[in-house]
Amino acid sequence: MTTAPTTLSESSSRLTPEMVQQIEQWCRRYPDKRAVVLPALHLVHHRWRWVPHSVVVQIAELLELAPAEVQDTLSFYGFFKQDKPHGVVRAWVCRSISCALRGGDELLEELCKLVGTRPGEPARDGSITVEAAECLGACEHAPCVLANERLYRGLDPRDVADLYRQLRKQAEQERDPGESSTTSPSDAS
Ligand code: FES
Repeated sequence: MTTAPTTLSESSSRLTPEMVQQIEQWCRRYPDKRAVVLPALHLVHHRWRWVPHSVVVQIAELLELAPAEVQDTLSFYGFFKQDKPHGVVRAWVCRSISCALRGGDELLEELCKLVGTRPGEPARDGSITVEAAECLGACEHAPCVLANERLYRGLDPRDVADLYRQLRKQAEQERDPGESSTTSPSDAS
């Protein structure tokens, strides 16, 4: 995975040559360049965990669109981060009915306390971002949390500390080797 530009100023973040190449390949494959906006945003977000404004402009140039058109697509989906990267692990805590009845809200609140932040904001060390989620499609395992690709199922809200330990361990395992564990997300702004 390409190192997220968390230590660069927002204005100096640039698409990597590999990203440009991938986007150009998609342009040749899709009948309309507009259709490449969403895959391009996902490509950047997956690698860097955010899509800086400067990169929105670059994507627009590549696709021969107005930056506002790319920005509109980005802002339509609450999924994309634009002010700073989300944590190495993005933990979606389900708060829909089955999970809520089994302590999903409590889980969300207590997990945020342990991470030392509020929903949507990364921990100071950039390891974890906790997010509130609607149904994750695993109601039979309520309450559950989807952390990147990993589903934590049948959680006990009274043992949120154990979940927190597991998420921290996951963040260490998944952290980009080129990324400093002491990088503060605020360095990005
Ligand atoms: S209600 Fe939580 S996974 Fe469906």
